[in-house]
Amino acid sequence: MKTVKSLADYQSEYQTSVEQPEKFWEKIADQFLWKNRWSKVLDWNFTEPTIQWFVNGTLNITENCIDRHLSKNAHKTAFIFEPNEPSESTQNISYQTLYDEVCRLANVLKKLGVEKGDRVCIYMPMIPEAIYGMLACARIGAVHSVVFGGFSAQALKDRINDSLCKVVLTTDGAFRGNKKIPMKATVDEALIECPSVKYTLVFNRTNDTIKMQEGRDLNWKTEVQSQPDHCEPVYVDAEHPLFILYTSGSTGKPKGVLHTTGGYMVYTAYSFANVFQYQPNDIYWCTADVGWITGHSYITYAPLLNAATSVIFEGIPTYPDAGRFWQVVDKHHVTHFYTAPTAIRALEAAGLEFVKPYKLTSLKVLGSVGEPINEEAWNWYSANIGKNKCPIVDTWWQTETGGILISPLAGITPTKPGFATLPLPGIQPILVDDKGNEITGNNVEGNLCIKFPWPSIIRTTYGDHERCKQTYFSTYKGLYFTGDGCKRDENGNYRITGRVDDVINVSGHRIGTAEVESALNMHEDIVESAVIGYPHEIKGQGIYAYCISINEHINSDDLKKELIDLVNKQIGPIAKPDKIQIVRGLPKTRSGKIMRRILRKIAEGDFANLGDTSTLLDPTVINEIIEPHLKNNN
Ligand code: WTA
Repeated sequence: MKTVKSLADYQSEYQTSVEQPEKFWEKIADQFLWKNRWSKVLDWNFTEPTIQWFVNGTLNITENCIDRHLSKNAHKTAFIFEPNEPSESTQNISYQTLYDEVCRLANVLKKLGVEKGDRVCIYMPMIPEAIYGMLACARIGAVHSVVFGGFSAQALKDRINDSLCKVVLTTDGAFRGNKKIPMKATVDEALIECPSVKYTLVFNRTNDTIKMQEGRDLNWKTEVQSQPDHCEPVYVDAEHPLFILYTSGSTGKPKGVLHTTGGYMVYTAYSFANVFQYQPNDIYWCTADVGWITGHSYITYAPLLNAATSVIFEGIPTYPDAGRFWQVVDKHHVTHFYTAPTAIRALEAAGLEFVKPYKLTSLKVLGSVGEPINEEAWNWYSANIGKNKCPIVDTWWQTETGGILISPLAGITPTKPGFATLPLPGIQPILVDDKGNEITGNNVEGNLCIKFPWPSIIRTTYGDHERCKQTYFSTYKGLYFTGDGCKRDENGNYRITGRVDDVINVSGHRIGTAEVESALNMHEDIVESAVIGYPHEIKGQGIYAYCISINEHINSDDLKKELIDLVNKQIGPIAKPDKIQIVRGLPKTRSGKIMRRILRKIAEGDFANLGDTSTLLDPTVINEIIEPHLKNNN
């Protein structure tokens, strides 16, 4: 794909994208294989909202990810699989092998009765089969719903039932550092109450003993073996759903963000090529998990759409030691390395002795995603990993945006620590105040919105369009609201400051405070709770839970442990509170609203700046909440 090559190029491309968006995107879309060309590039309004790109176009995304490359690149490596255990051998998967595997698996899905539009849940560790699963769905027009392997049975069940999945793809277990995690057992527990699921397909990874339910559970390898390695692609409308991915918001249960096929393909491919400036022989490695949007867009789809070679990593950054990432970079001559600030901070804390043994000379571009990167981590990354010669692309985007919206283009946009810098062509950010008035000019701060659609914008929240409208398109009329606060510096560079809603970003994972609160409130001793985020050195934000207990358990360790177990069970270990404080009351306004702002200040230890507390129903609760903090500090 032709990419922007200089800052002047970027500026002129940006201008065209704003002045003639349809012409601009049409030219990019024309670089792909379509069964039928579109009749209209864009049809939209942000009120309902309805957004359609490449109207009446038909295509199959896997043809663009795989088939299209076979004439020239059949033997090129699509994926290098690096297992959890460094001693286990690496697997090189060519585009031809990928084709064969995806087709076989697609044929299995067809045999199991999966049809165009049906939902398939994927609950798997980071192994190539998870990616085959996604692509096999797309091959036959089925919609995948990948659920991160760290979610609990309860969370998995809720997601399966929300989108009524027919089949679940899973493994017996997962290797994660020195631990083995059961996967099938969790699926079994979830499926007790999932009537829509007819089959599971189980890939044996850890070779642990698992229960297989006759008539429902099938062995992946056996099923795949007997299938032909060809499967005709099912052509779908550009607006046919490609996948659902659940993500947390301010209120209620996680929402199923829905992305469609044509626009998602065009935007992810374009953003990958431009942001990373990937060249044909480069080796790209994104350390995310396919359970998150980064894995969907920048492990599975965009690299394949660009015929790239990428590393799939099963393990964790600290196993067998904190040098693992760097060892893998050297081993596979990785040129592009894309990770999260939380990993950078953790590896920085582990010490330079874990970096020194490695050369890291293959690296050309470094990326960051998922949360604001603090200047210190940025500088450490640049100096010690990039040896001050690799541009850092700090990529800002969201599950809902499908692809990277604000980021430097590697080697082209001047970088600035902590800044995602400039919008990609096609992206029109605007800052607004709380009333929705545009904040113009530079050196300003406000709520980040986008005023014009781009091809991979969220289309709906599965099964509940009103929720999509309320969450993203109603706060500020005529705008897509991101939920993030943002600064624009004197040169027009953007710096994302973090969420302005009740979402916490823990190690780059989005956690809704309401979800954690409702898990805590399920405990019979808990009357009410308030969960907030507080600054955490490694995780970015930690989870702080204030809970009101009915009896005198005040601060009992047993109760805290029970509460943590409860959150693990309801959501999963990623949502586990770092700190729990049992309190007698919570600061509330006279209308009963919890003043989270005050709770955040207390958790930060900023007792002097609690702001106006005069409107509180019972101001004395504040001193009671602060008291134990003062004791701890002495
Ligand atoms: C945050 C992850 C600052 C932001 C791709 C956003 C970031 C949320 C950055 C989306 C970044 C992501 N700088 N903040 N480079 N990237 N965020 O849906 O608050 O898991 O709204 O998508 O992460 O998280 P999500």
